[in-house]
Parts: sequence; structure tokens; C-alpha cells
Amino acid sequence: MRVEEFLAEVDRAFDGDPRTSAPRDPRFVGIAESVNGYTSANELAVLNAAARVMPVDECYLEVGSYKGRSMCAAVQDVDDKTFYVVENYLEFGMQGRAARVELERNLATYAAHADVRLIEGNCFALLRRPGIVDRPVGVYFYDGEHTGLSHYLALGIIEPWLADEAIILVDDASYPMVSGAHEEFIARHPQWRVERRWDAEVNGDPRWANGLHALSFRRDAATARGSAESWDVRWRRLAYLASLGPGQKAAWKAIHHFPGLIPLAKTLYPSKKASQIDPG
Ligand SMILES: C[S@@+](CC[C@H](N)C(=O)[O-])C[C@H]1O[C@@H](n2cnc3c(N)ncnc32)[C@H](O)[C@@H]1O
Repeated sequence: MRVEEFLAEVDRAFDGDPRTSAPRDPRFVGIAESVNGYTSANELAVLNAAARVMPVDECYLEVGSYKGRSMCAAVQDVDDKTFYVVENYLEFGMQGRAARVELERNLATYAAHADVRLIEGNCFALLRRPGIVDRPVGVYFYDGEHTGLSHYLALGIIEPWLADEAIILVDDASYPMVSGAHEEFIARHPQWRVERRWDAEVNGDPRWANGLHALSFRRDAATARGSAESWDVRWRRLAYLASLGPGQKAAWKAIHHFPGLIPLAKTLYPSKKASQIDPG
């Protein structure tokens, strides 16, 4: 994936400076209005720009589809490429089969032309599994859980799967714990850099929701395929799998069964998205 091509395609997708203007293509506003979700029309236009310029021998991988809004937009006019969605049906009232049915219905409406492959489970466990995707990841969109640890790990865990040059789009990046996590990661991993920051001016900004950052990765000798996992990623992965992951799973399940806990979740979960919890 050529980073420069992606940046040029983003510029073409907007009427002016993307930070202050709307996408040229009105379909993204339409998708944002008709598919339940959390991404804004501007974010959807950026995701689609990335998919458009991604080579066919690479794939697009999204973590956190919810009901499919971001994936429905990413695939618009892209019918010859491979898209993966990883979703654990846990947060925001996403419980099991019912959630999957709604996601599949939206994909049938907006993405029937595209090759979208659903992978169910926790990304931090799944992305250690050999052969989970069938080609290098040219575009990675991370919109999963938003803790500092998860965000750091979200970058570390994908690195072995990335194409030699890749674009990584991080949602909710205006939150300090999100941008802080990728800045900390980049400080240790010089193959990565921040290319663009489309920040939210207010929480839930109409143009950029909670902010989107575009990162790039360029593989070098230190990150050659088959390299051992670095220690900073390894200890975080083990810590996550041992404690944070199972703890969050239990908490979201409890909220689903006992909606009276929602006020407590809003206090504990440090993001606007907690105010949008749908108990089912
Ligand atoms: C904010 S929502 C995604 C919104 C969606 N991209 C949109 O455009 O509306 C986050 C989703 O990530 C999923 N998720 C959170 N942590 C995850 C993980 N570790 N692995 C897989 N999915 C995860 C949640 O179940 C939830 O559906």
C-alpha cells in the first residue's frame, strides 16, 4: 500500500481541507444516517479512500465493526478486494447472535458486492493465530476497545501481518489515552509514524466524532517477517490476556444483563461512547 497514494486519495475525497470540509460523495452521510454506529461521514470517506487505493494482493482488516457502519462505507465502489472484520460482539449491547444478524443485514444492504469475511472473537487472541488472514494487511482500521493498553497492543499485534508499507487508521484518537498509546508505541518502533491527525474539536465532533489518526508503517530489517515479538508488546499481550480482557468481558456481560449498572459504567469507562451504551 503506497502511503502517498492514500494521502492523495483522501485529498480528492473532500471539497477542501478535510479537517474543515465535508466529503464530496454524499453516500457517506447517507450511510452514517442509516446504519447504526459511531463513525462520522468524514471518517467513512477516509476509510473508503484507503480501500480504493489498496492493492488487490493486500487486504483491509477492521477490528470493531459493531453493526457494520464503517465496513459498509469502506467497501463502496470496491468490488475486487478482500476485507476482514474482527468483532467479539461484546461492547455496547452487542450480544451474540442478535448482533451478528444486524451486522449481516447491513452488510447485505451496502456491501453485497464485496468480499467481506467476518471473524468472530477477541482480536488480541485471534491475531496470534497462524493463517488468520490470507494476504498482507495493507489497511488496518482499529476501532475496538479504548484503553491505553489495548491501543498499544492493537499496533503491536498487527505488525507481523502488515504489508511492507501499510496504513493504520486509529479511531477515537483525540482521546489522550489513545494518542498517548500510539505515541509511546512509535517512540519504540521507528518504522511507524503519524501521517495525519483529524482531531475532534469537541467530544462527539460532527465532522470527526472523537478523532481519527492515520499512521504509516514501513517494514525494515529490524521488522523483517519472522522476527520475534518485541518485549514491550509481549508483556502487554500477556497482561491483557491474563487480566484486562477477561475483566472487561465480565463487565460488559453484567451490563447487558443488569442495565441498572449503566450509570456505573459511564463513570468507569472514560469515553463519550459510554453515554451511548445500548443495553441490548
Ligand atoms: C465503537 S464500536 C465500533 C463502531 C463501528 N466501527 C462503527 O463504524 O460504528 C467498537 C466495537 O469493537 C468491538 N470490540 C471491542 N474490543 C474488541 C476486541 N478486543 N476484539 C474484537 N472486537 C472488539 C465491540 O464489541 C464493538 O462492537
